[in-house]
Amino acid sequence: MLPVKAPSDLLRRLRARFDETGYTIDGVRERLGDVAAAALAREELVPALRATKDVDPLAALIRLWWLGVPVSTAAADLPLSELVQCGLLVKVGDAVQASVHVQPWETGGYLVSDRKVRPGDPAIRRDHVVGAGGASANLAQLITRRPVERALDLGTGCGVQVLHLAERADRIVATDVNRRALELSQLSWGLSGIEDVDARKGPMYDPVHDERFDLIVSNPPFVISPNGRFPYRESGYQGDAFCHELVRQAPAHLNPGGHFQALANWLHVKGEDWQDRVGGWLAETGCDGWAVQRDAQDPAEYVELWLRDAAEQGSPAYRDRYDEWLAWFDAQNVVGIGFGWITVHNSGTLDPVVRVEELSQQVELPVGAYLDDVLAGITAAHRLTDDDLLDLALKLSEGVLEERVGPPGAEDPTRIVLRQTRGLRRAASVGTVEAALAGVCDGDLRLGPLLGAIGDIIGEENLAPGPLRALIAEGYFQFS
Ligand SMILES: C[S@@+](CC[C@H](N)C(=O)[O-])C[C@H]1O[C@@H](n2cnc3c(N)ncnc32)[C@H](O)[C@@H]1O
Repeated sequence: MLPVKAPSDLLRRLRARFDETGYTIDGVRERLGDVAAAALAREELVPALRATKDVDPLAALIRLWWLGVPVSTAAADLPLSELVQCGLLVKVGDAVQASVHVQPWETGGYLVSDRKVRPGDPAIRRDHVVGAGGASANLAQLITRRPVERALDLGTGCGVQVLHLAERADRIVATDVNRRALELSQLSWGLSGIEDVDARKGPMYDPVHDERFDLIVSNPPFVISPNGRFPYRESGYQGDAFCHELVRQAPAHLNPGGHFQALANWLHVKGEDWQDRVGGWLAETGCDGWAVQRDAQDPAEYVELWLRDAAEQGSPAYRDRYDEWLAWFDAQNVVGIGFGWITVHNSGTLDPVVRVEELSQQVELPVGAYLDDVLAGITAAHRLTDDDLLDLALKLSEGVLEERVGPPGAEDPTRIVLRQTRGLRRAASVGTVEAALAGVCDGDLRLGPLLGAIGDIIGEENLAPGPLRALIAEGYFQFS
């Protein structure tokens, strides 16, 4: 297939056409109606095809660019010959069909990718460019909102992370091993009015080998498989070594104070604690690190997920591939696979801290808006001495509620829980001293005198601040 390249003027006119016709997230949802729009979000096209049978101008754009079906040249009110000439459309009799998928994105921009494969489609091309999905959106929500000068998007694919970075980075470098990804991402940026992205081809950090950034983001090819058949999601590295390597090399490319934020998969190996595995990756960096496991699957669930993702369910090779993949996991004693987030902060400290944890609850979005507070809590709890703590005026974080559980009529509760209604929405069982502090820490009084007063009431001298450390690390208290 020919490379797809379009002059910027053509992209500007196409974008103007999208705007005037209402080819936007809200416009598409409204035109399709709730049922078809919800089905489309599940990647089911039939209701949307039915809803766009009457081919008005917006329906023509939806059918052409999103649903990928031919539209008669009469209905497609577009600069057809130019779009055919640059490879975005192909002629099919007296109709045209799009060679790529173009979808409006939540930033107000557009993303150009290959269309998602469906059962019965021809085999996926090796240079397939994956469209933005749930993982892309998750990473975008995780990224710090702090404005930066230089940002790197490693493995840019259709260029989605750049659409988000463009709001807060002065200069952006985007890399990918796949030349076609760089071609399609340039179309995404052109349609989204984003200029001057420095797009470079090459693996891992090779294209930026001697450069440093304030922010590195990556939704990498994290899928762990025996053979790396699909470069859009599999690196060809052994096991989870690609994600490990990505983290290991990050500090060499971070400016002082810079952040690395990525999605990752990691192996759960028999006889090994996964937290030690991922914690080890972070400890090697010499930076502060935070890893969160959001989900874990057993090997069979994992293989099914990714065979389904490539529309291989029901294909003649399905059973063999499933069996081969499971046998490969068995040979390496893999008992599960974790999915999650990794953040590295090049804080310059001589005493780095690593926190690895599981969070399965729904968290407040975007995480990037309060990421600095999360990291500040983790590092403060690690670095402050008991004397430092006693001298601090702590404040209960916004949205923390207290729950008291016990038999009806009992004088004292059997359990007191502090529950965050904001941020990471954690819950912690606490003792009476911590609960009392939660009631009085308003940012004015220092912890030392407060602990003294609580000690007088409960008849205990010299209450130590140590137990508060875990609550500070988890964001229940902030410093005023
Ligand atoms: C899962 S896609 C992510 C695309 C996009 N950044 C997103 O957030 O949706 C992973 C991308 O990494 C690219 N890739 C694969 N192997 C790579 C490598 N060794 N170095 C850099 N990029 C790689 C793939 O071509 C693909 O575009």
